[in-house]
Amino acid sequence: MSILYRDARLCTLAGPTGWGLVDDGAMLVDGGTLRWLGPAAALPAGLPVEREHRLGGALVTPGLVDCHTHLVYAGQRADEFEQRLRGASYAAIADAGGGIAATVRATRAASEHELLAATRQRALALLRRGVTTLEIKSGYGLDLDHEARCLRVARRIGELLPLSVRCTCLSAHTLPPEYAGRADDYIDAVCAWLPRLAGAGLVDAVDAFCEHIAFDAAQVARVFDAARAAGLPVKLHAEQLSDQGGAQLAARHGALSCDHLEYLGPQGVAAMAAAGSVAVLLPGAFYFLRETRLPPVQALREAGVAIALATDHNPGTSPTLDPLLMLNMGCTLFRLTPEEAVRGMTVHGAAALGLRDRGRLCAGQRADFVAWPLEHPNELCYWIGQQPACRVYVAGEEA
Ligand code: NIG
Ligand code: FE
Repeated sequence: MSILYRDARLCTLAGPTGWGLVDDGAMLVDGGTLRWLGPAAALPAGLPVEREHRLGGALVTPGLVDCHTHLVYAGQRADEFEQRLRGASYAAIADAGGGIAATVRATRAASEHELLAATRQRALALLRRGVTTLEIKSGYGLDLDHEARCLRVARRIGELLPLSVRCTCLSAHTLPPEYAGRADDYIDAVCAWLPRLAGAGLVDAVDAFCEHIAFDAAQVARVFDAARAAGLPVKLHAEQLSDQGGAQLAARHGALSCDHLEYLGPQGVAAMAAAGSVAVLLPGAFYFLRETRLPPVQALREAGVAIALATDHNPGTSPTLDPLLMLNMGCTLFRLTPEEAVRGMTVHGAAALGLRDRGRLCAGQRADFVAWPLEHPNELCYWIGQQPACRVYVAGEEA
Protein backbone atom coordinates (compact mmCIF):
# COMPACT_ATOMS: atom_id res chain seq x y z
CA MET A 1 0.00 0.00 0.00
CA SER A 2 1.57 3.32 -1.03
CA ILE A 3 0.41 6.32 0.99
CA LEU A 4 1.12 9.96 0.26
CA TYR A 5 1.26 12.12 3.39
CA ARG A 6 1.03 15.84 2.76
CA ASP A 7 0.39 19.17 4.41
CA ALA A 8 3.19 18.85 6.98
CA ARG A 9 6.28 20.72 8.07
CA LEU A 10 9.01 18.09 7.94
CA CYS A 11 11.94 18.06 10.35
CA THR A 12 14.11 15.58 8.49
CA LEU A 13 17.45 15.77 10.37
CA ALA A 14 18.74 14.45 7.05
CA GLY A 15 22.13 16.20 7.05
CA PRO A 16 24.86 15.96 9.67
CA THR A 17 23.70 19.24 11.23
CA GLY A 18 20.60 21.43 11.07
CA TRP A 19 16.95 20.58 11.49
CA GLY A 20 16.47 19.87 7.79
CA LEU A 21 13.10 21.66 7.72
CA VAL A 22 10.85 21.29 4.68
CA ASP A 23 7.80 23.53 4.63
CA ASP A 24 4.61 22.31 2.97
CA GLY A 25 6.23 18.90 2.78
CA ALA A 26 5.00 15.58 1.42
CA MET A 27 6.16 12.01 2.02
CA LEU A 28 5.46 8.92 -0.03
CA VAL A 29 5.50 5.70 1.98
CA ASP A 30 5.46 2.24 0.47
CA GLY A 31 6.00 -1.10 2.16
CA GLY A 32 6.71 0.67 5.45
CA THR A 33 9.59 2.64 3.92
CA LEU A 34 9.90 6.30 2.94
CA ARG A 35 10.21 6.34 -0.85
CA TRP A 36 10.21 10.07 -1.54
CA LEU A 37 9.92 13.23 0.49
CA GLY A 38 10.29 16.92 -0.16
CA PRO A 39 8.26 20.04 -0.78
CA ALA A 40 4.81 19.18 -2.15
CA ALA A 41 5.52 21.55 -5.05
CA ALA A 42 8.34 19.24 -6.14
CA LEU A 43 6.32 16.00 -6.08
CA PRO A 44 7.34 14.04 -9.14
CA ALA A 45 4.49 13.33 -11.53
CA GLY A 46 3.23 9.79 -11.84
CA LEU A 47 4.12 8.55 -8.33
CA PRO A 48 2.12 5.41 -7.54
CA VAL A 49 -0.24 6.74 -4.85
CA GLU A 50 -2.96 4.44 -3.56
CA ARG A 51 -4.04 6.55 -0.57
CA GLU A 52 -3.57 10.16 0.40
CA HIS A 53 -3.54 11.51 3.92
CA ARG A 54 -3.37 15.15 5.00
CA LEU A 55 -1.51 15.94 8.21
CA GLY A 56 -3.18 19.31 8.83
CA GLY A 57 -0.03 21.39 8.92
CA ALA A 58 1.55 19.29 11.70
CA LEU A 59 5.25 19.28 12.45
CA VAL A 60 6.59 15.84 11.48
CA THR A 61 9.74 14.44 13.05
CA PRO A 62 11.32 11.01 12.93
CA GLY A 63 9.84 8.62 15.50
CA LEU A 64 11.59 8.90 18.85
CA VAL A 65 14.11 6.22 19.79
CA ASP A 66 14.34 5.52 23.53
CA CYS A 67 17.63 3.62 23.50
CA HIS A 68 18.01 2.87 27.24
CA THR A 69 15.19 1.59 29.47
CA HIS A 70 14.72 -0.94 32.25
CA LEU A 71 11.01 -1.42 31.57
CA VAL A 72 10.50 -4.93 32.97
CA TYR A 73 10.12 -4.93 36.75
CA ALA A 74 7.57 -5.13 39.54
CA GLY A 75 7.01 -2.76 42.44
CA GLN A 76 8.32 0.72 43.11
CA ARG A 77 10.95 2.35 45.32
CA ALA A 78 9.36 5.58 46.54
CA ASP A 79 10.61 4.83 50.08
CA GLU A 80 14.19 4.93 48.81
CA PHE A 81 13.44 8.26 47.19
CA GLU A 82 12.40 9.52 50.63
CA GLN A 83 15.52 8.05 52.24
CA ARG A 84 17.70 9.84 49.71
CA LEU A 85 15.87 13.11 50.34
CA ARG A 86 16.79 12.63 54.00
CA GLY A 87 20.44 12.25 53.02
CA ALA A 88 21.09 8.56 52.31
CA SER A 89 23.10 7.94 49.14
CA TYR A 90 22.13 5.59 46.29
CA ALA A 91 25.25 3.54 47.03
CA ALA A 92 24.52 3.33 50.78
CA ILE A 93 20.98 2.10 50.10
CA ALA A 94 22.37 -0.50 47.69
CA ASP A 95 25.00 -1.63 50.24
CA ALA A 96 22.18 -2.12 52.78
CA GLY A 97 20.39 -4.56 50.46
CA GLY A 98 18.03 -2.07 48.81
CA GLY A 99 18.39 -0.49 45.40
CA ILE A 100 18.48 -2.85 42.44
CA ALA A 101 18.28 -5.85 44.81
CA ALA A 102 14.93 -4.60 46.16
CA THR A 103 13.49 -4.57 42.65
CA VAL A 104 14.97 -8.01 41.99
CA ARG A 105 13.00 -9.37 44.97
CA ALA A 106 9.76 -7.78 43.75
CA THR A 107 10.34 -8.89 40.16
CA ARG A 108 11.10 -12.50 41.07
CA ALA A 109 7.91 -12.57 43.17
CA ALA A 110 5.70 -11.35 40.31
CA SER A 111 4.18 -13.66 37.72
CA GLU A 112 5.22 -13.39 34.07
CA HIS A 113 1.69 -12.25 33.31
CA GLU A 114 1.93 -9.43 35.87
CA LEU A 115 5.31 -8.37 34.50
CA LEU A 116 3.94 -8.34 30.97
CA ALA A 117 0.89 -6.29 31.94
CA ALA A 118 2.97 -3.69 33.81
CA THR A 119 5.59 -3.49 31.06
CA ARG A 120 2.95 -3.20 28.36
CA GLN A 121 1.39 -0.20 30.12
CA ARG A 122 4.77 1.53 30.31
CA ALA A 123 5.64 0.81 26.69
CA LEU A 124 2.21 2.04 25.61
CA ALA A 125 2.77 5.33 27.45
CA LEU A 126 6.07 5.79 25.60
CA LEU A 127 4.47 4.91 22.26
CA ARG A 128 1.69 7.45 22.85
CA ARG A 129 4.38 10.04 23.53
CA GLY A 130 6.16 9.49 20.25
CA VAL A 131 8.51 6.54 20.82
CA THR A 132 8.60 4.12 17.88
CA THR A 133 11.79 2.21 18.75
CA LEU A 134 12.44 1.10 22.29
CA GLU A 135 15.31 -0.70 23.99
CA ILE A 136 14.36 -2.84 26.99
CA LYS A 137 16.93 -4.33 29.34
CA SER A 138 16.67 -7.31 31.64
CA GLY A 139 18.57 -7.03 34.91
CA TYR A 140 15.96 -7.51 37.64
CA GLY A 141 15.87 -11.32 37.36
CA LEU A 142 19.53 -12.20 37.95
CA ASP A 143 19.19 -15.94 37.53
CA LEU A 144 18.77 -17.81 34.28
CA ASP A 145 15.03 -18.41 34.56
CA HIS A 146 14.13 -14.95 35.80
CA GLU A 147 16.37 -13.21 33.28
CA ALA A 148 14.82 -15.32 30.50
CA ARG A 149 11.38 -14.35 31.76
CA CYS A 150 12.23 -10.62 31.69
CA LEU A 151 13.65 -10.93 28.18
CA ARG A 152 10.59 -12.88 26.99
CA VAL A 153 8.39 -10.10 28.32
CA ALA A 154 10.52 -7.54 26.49
CA ARG A 155 10.29 -9.50 23.22
CA ARG A 156 6.53 -9.90 23.64
CA ILE A 157 6.11 -6.11 23.88
CA GLY A 158 7.39 -5.83 20.33
CA GLU A 159 4.73 -8.34 19.23
CA LEU A 160 1.84 -6.81 21.20
CA LEU A 161 2.47 -3.16 20.34
CA PRO A 162 3.39 -1.48 17.06
CA LEU A 163 6.88 -0.67 18.32
CA SER A 164 10.33 -1.94 17.41
CA VAL A 165 11.82 -3.43 20.57
CA ARG A 166 15.52 -4.24 21.05
CA CYS A 167 16.21 -6.59 23.95
CA THR A 168 19.37 -6.12 25.97
CA CYS A 169 20.65 -8.66 28.48
CA LEU A 170 21.80 -6.85 31.64
CA SER A 171 22.33 -9.88 33.86
CA ALA A 172 25.54 -8.22 35.15
CA HIS A 173 23.47 -5.48 36.83
CA THR A 174 24.24 -6.29 40.45
CA LEU A 175 25.21 -9.30 42.53
CA PRO A 176 22.14 -11.36 43.48
CA PRO A 177 21.99 -12.38 47.19
CA GLU A 178 22.59 -16.07 46.52
CA TYR A 179 26.06 -15.15 45.17
CA ALA A 180 27.02 -12.82 48.05
CA GLY A 181 30.81 -12.69 48.30
CA ARG A 182 31.17 -14.69 45.05
CA ALA A 183 31.02 -12.07 42.32
CA ASP A 184 33.39 -13.98 40.05
CA ASP A 185 31.26 -17.09 40.32
CA TYR A 186 28.21 -15.05 39.37
CA ILE A 187 30.02 -13.66 36.34
CA ASP A 188 30.89 -17.25 35.34
CA ALA A 189 27.19 -18.08 35.55
CA VAL A 190 26.20 -15.05 33.45
CA CYS A 191 28.77 -16.01 30.81
CA ALA A 192 27.26 -19.49 30.71
CA TRP A 193 23.67 -18.20 30.34
CA LEU A 194 24.42 -15.78 27.55
CA PRO A 195 24.68 -18.30 24.71
CA ARG A 196 21.49 -19.99 25.91
CA LEU A 197 19.52 -16.73 26.08
CA ALA A 198 20.96 -15.68 22.74
CA GLY A 199 20.18 -19.08 21.24
CA ALA A 200 16.56 -18.65 22.33
CA GLY A 201 16.45 -15.43 20.29
CA LEU A 202 15.97 -13.27 23.37
CA VAL A 203 19.02 -11.00 23.15
CA ASP A 204 20.06 -8.27 20.72
CA ALA A 205 22.85 -6.76 22.85
CA VAL A 206 24.63 -7.23 26.18
CA ASP A 207 25.02 -4.56 28.87
CA ALA A 208 26.67 -4.47 32.32
CA PHE A 209 26.97 -2.08 35.26
CA CYS A 210 30.64 -1.21 35.83
CA GLU A 211 30.72 0.46 39.24
CA HIS A 212 32.06 -0.03 42.76
CA ILE A 213 28.57 -1.16 43.84
CA ALA A 214 28.31 -3.58 40.91
CA PHE A 215 31.09 -5.18 38.81
CA ASP A 216 34.69 -4.20 38.13
CA ALA A 217 36.27 -3.77 34.72
CA ALA A 218 37.84 -7.26 34.71
CA GLN A 219 34.47 -8.86 35.45
CA VAL A 220 32.75 -6.78 32.79
CA ALA A 221 35.48 -7.76 30.30
CA ARG A 222 34.60 -11.41 30.84
CA VAL A 223 30.92 -10.71 30.14
CA PHE A 224 31.89 -8.82 26.99
CA ASP A 225 34.08 -11.71 25.80
CA ALA A 226 31.11 -14.06 26.26
CA ALA A 227 28.92 -11.60 24.35
CA ARG A 228 31.36 -11.50 21.48
CA ALA A 229 31.53 -15.30 21.43
CA ALA A 230 27.73 -15.32 21.15
CA GLY A 231 27.92 -12.78 18.31
CA LEU A 232 26.29 -9.99 20.32
CA PRO A 233 27.23 -6.29 20.47
CA VAL A 234 27.88 -4.69 23.86
CA LYS A 235 27.06 -1.47 25.71
CA LEU A 236 27.86 -0.36 29.24
CA HIS A 237 26.52 1.54 32.25
CA ALA A 238 29.79 3.42 32.64
CA GLU A 239 31.18 6.13 34.93
CA GLN A 240 27.78 6.88 36.51
CA LEU A 241 29.00 7.26 40.11
CA SER A 242 32.79 7.09 39.67
CA ASP A 243 35.43 6.71 36.94
CA GLN A 244 36.10 2.99 36.63
CA GLY A 245 37.67 3.15 33.17
CA GLY A 246 34.54 1.42 31.95
CA ALA A 247 34.20 3.48 28.79
CA GLN A 248 37.73 2.58 27.69
CA LEU A 249 37.02 -1.08 28.30
CA ALA A 250 33.73 -0.89 26.41
CA ALA A 251 35.36 0.99 23.54
CA ARG A 252 38.01 -1.75 23.29
CA HIS A 253 35.11 -4.15 22.78
CA GLY A 254 33.63 -1.94 20.05
CA ALA A 255 30.67 -0.94 22.24
CA LEU A 256 27.61 0.47 20.53
CA SER A 257 27.27 2.92 23.43
CA CYS A 258 28.47 3.92 26.87
CA ASP A 259 25.69 5.24 29.04
CA HIS A 260 25.42 7.74 31.96
CA LEU A 261 29.07 9.02 31.81
CA GLU A 262 28.93 11.75 34.46
CA TYR A 263 32.45 10.75 35.62
CA LEU A 264 33.86 10.11 32.12
CA GLY A 265 37.45 11.40 31.80
CA PRO A 266 39.48 12.53 28.75
CA GLN A 267 40.84 9.05 28.05
CA GLY A 268 37.33 7.64 28.04
CA VAL A 269 36.19 10.34 25.63
CA ALA A 270 39.11 9.62 23.29
CA ALA A 271 38.50 5.87 23.42
CA MET A 272 34.82 6.30 22.62
CA ALA A 273 35.60 8.63 19.72
CA ALA A 274 38.09 6.13 18.28
CA ALA A 275 35.62 3.25 18.62
CA GLY A 276 32.61 5.20 17.33
CA SER A 277 30.66 4.42 20.54
CA VAL A 278 27.64 6.64 21.17
CA ALA A 279 27.46 8.58 24.47
CA VAL A 280 23.99 7.96 25.91
CA LEU A 281 23.22 10.69 28.45
CA LEU A 282 20.46 10.07 30.98
CA PRO A 283 19.29 13.33 32.54
CA GLY A 284 16.40 11.64 34.36
CA ALA A 285 18.79 9.65 36.57
CA PHE A 286 21.07 12.67 37.05
CA TYR A 287 18.09 14.73 38.17
CA PHE A 288 16.42 12.08 40.33
CA LEU A 289 19.65 11.19 42.17
CA ARG A 290 20.32 14.93 42.57
CA GLU A 291 23.76 14.46 41.05
CA THR A 292 25.94 17.51 40.57
CA ARG A 293 28.76 16.14 38.41
CA LEU A 294 27.92 16.86 34.77
CA PRO A 295 28.84 14.58 31.87
CA PRO A 296 31.65 16.14 29.76
CA VAL A 297 29.39 17.35 26.97
CA GLN A 298 31.83 19.84 25.46
CA ALA A 299 34.64 17.27 25.36
CA LEU A 300 32.29 14.76 23.69
CA ARG A 301 31.32 17.37 21.10
CA GLU A 302 34.92 18.31 20.39
CA ALA A 303 35.88 14.66 19.99
CA GLY A 304 32.99 14.08 17.58
CA VAL A 305 31.25 11.50 19.79
CA ALA A 306 27.56 11.18 18.90
CA ILE A 307 25.36 12.05 21.88
CA ALA A 308 22.06 10.29 22.54
CA LEU A 309 19.41 10.91 25.20
CA ALA A 310 17.09 8.32 26.74
CA THR A 311 14.62 7.99 29.59
CA ASP A 312 16.56 5.23 31.47
CA HIS A 313 13.09 4.38 32.79
CA ASN A 314 13.58 2.29 35.96
CA PRO A 315 12.09 2.30 39.47
CA GLY A 316 15.30 3.33 41.24
CA THR A 317 16.91 6.24 39.46
CA SER A 318 14.58 7.44 36.70
CA PRO A 319 10.89 6.64 37.16
CA THR A 320 9.81 8.70 34.16
CA LEU A 321 7.92 7.78 31.01
CA ASP A 322 8.25 11.24 29.52
CA PRO A 323 10.68 11.40 26.60
CA LEU A 324 10.10 15.10 25.94
CA LEU A 325 10.94 15.91 29.57
CA MET A 326 14.29 14.20 28.93
CA LEU A 327 14.83 16.50 25.93
CA ASN A 328 14.07 19.48 28.15
CA MET A 329 16.44 18.25 30.87
CA GLY A 330 19.11 17.44 28.29
CA CYS A 331 19.06 21.13 27.40
CA THR A 332 18.59 22.69 30.84
CA LEU A 333 20.78 20.34 32.89
CA PHE A 334 23.39 19.20 30.35
CA ARG A 335 23.39 22.31 28.13
CA LEU A 336 22.67 20.44 24.91
CA THR A 337 21.23 22.56 22.15
CA PRO A 338 17.63 21.67 21.26
CA GLU A 339 18.88 20.26 17.96
CA GLU A 340 21.42 18.07 19.76
CA ALA A 341 18.71 16.88 22.17
CA VAL A 342 16.30 15.95 19.37
CA ARG A 343 19.07 14.21 17.40
CA GLY A 344 19.89 12.42 20.65
CA MET A 345 16.47 10.82 20.78
CA THR A 346 16.24 10.08 17.06
CA VAL A 347 19.23 9.47 14.83
CA HIS A 348 21.81 9.10 17.61
CA GLY A 349 19.47 7.00 19.76
CA ALA A 350 19.13 4.66 16.78
CA ALA A 351 22.93 4.54 16.38
CA ALA A 352 23.24 3.56 20.07
CA LEU A 353 21.21 0.47 19.14
CA GLY A 354 23.21 -0.20 15.99
CA LEU A 355 20.25 0.83 13.81
CA ARG A 356 20.96 2.94 10.72
CA ASP A 357 17.57 2.56 9.03
CA ARG A 358 15.70 5.05 11.23
CA GLY A 359 16.03 8.29 13.14
CA ARG A 360 15.98 10.57 10.09
CA LEU A 361 13.40 11.28 7.42
CA CYS A 362 14.84 10.46 4.03
CA ALA A 363 14.19 8.07 1.20
CA GLY A 364 15.08 4.50 2.16
CA GLN A 365 14.52 4.98 5.90
CA ARG A 366 11.75 3.25 7.85
CA ALA A 367 8.56 5.31 7.78
CA ASP A 368 8.47 5.80 11.57
CA PHE A 369 7.40 9.37 12.24
CA VAL A 370 5.41 11.55 14.61
CA ALA A 371 3.03 14.40 13.74
CA TRP A 372 3.09 17.04 16.48
CA PRO A 373 0.76 20.04 16.96
CA LEU A 374 3.85 22.29 17.13
CA GLU A 375 5.38 24.90 14.89
CA HIS A 376 9.07 24.24 15.37
CA PRO A 377 11.07 21.23 16.59
CA ASN A 378 12.72 23.30 19.32
CA GLU A 379 9.32 23.20 21.06
CA LEU A 380 9.91 19.49 21.71
CA CYS A 381 12.51 20.64 24.24
CA TYR A 382 10.67 23.71 25.45
CA TRP A 383 7.30 22.71 26.89
CA ILE A 384 7.56 21.12 30.33
CA GLY A 385 5.27 18.19 31.06
CA GLN A 386 2.67 19.20 28.47
CA GLN A 387 2.45 15.99 26.42
CA PRO A 388 1.41 17.57 23.12
CA ALA A 389 -1.26 15.40 21.44
CA CYS A 390 0.88 13.74 18.82
CA ARG A 391 -0.01 11.13 16.21
CA VAL A 392 2.46 8.30 15.91
CA TYR A 393 3.12 6.41 12.68
CA VAL A 394 5.07 3.16 12.58
CA ALA A 395 6.18 1.71 9.25
CA GLY A 396 3.86 4.18 7.57
CA GLU A 397 0.66 3.32 9.48
CA GLU A 398 -0.88 5.24 12.37
CA ALA A 399 -0.15 3.35 15.60
O1 NIG B 1 20.50 3.06 34.82
N1 NIG B 1 22.81 2.21 37.24
C1 NIG B 1 22.30 1.13 37.13
N2 NIG B 1 21.10 0.83 36.65
C2 NIG B 1 19.97 1.72 36.65
C3 NIG B 1 19.33 1.86 37.98
C4 NIG B 1 18.71 0.61 38.43
C5 NIG B 1 17.98 0.73 39.72
O2 NIG B 1 18.32 1.51 40.62
O3 NIG B 1 17.01 -0.04 39.84
C6 NIG B 1 20.33 3.06 36.02
O4 NIG B 1 20.45 4.09 36.69
FE1 FE C 1 20.15 2.28 33.11
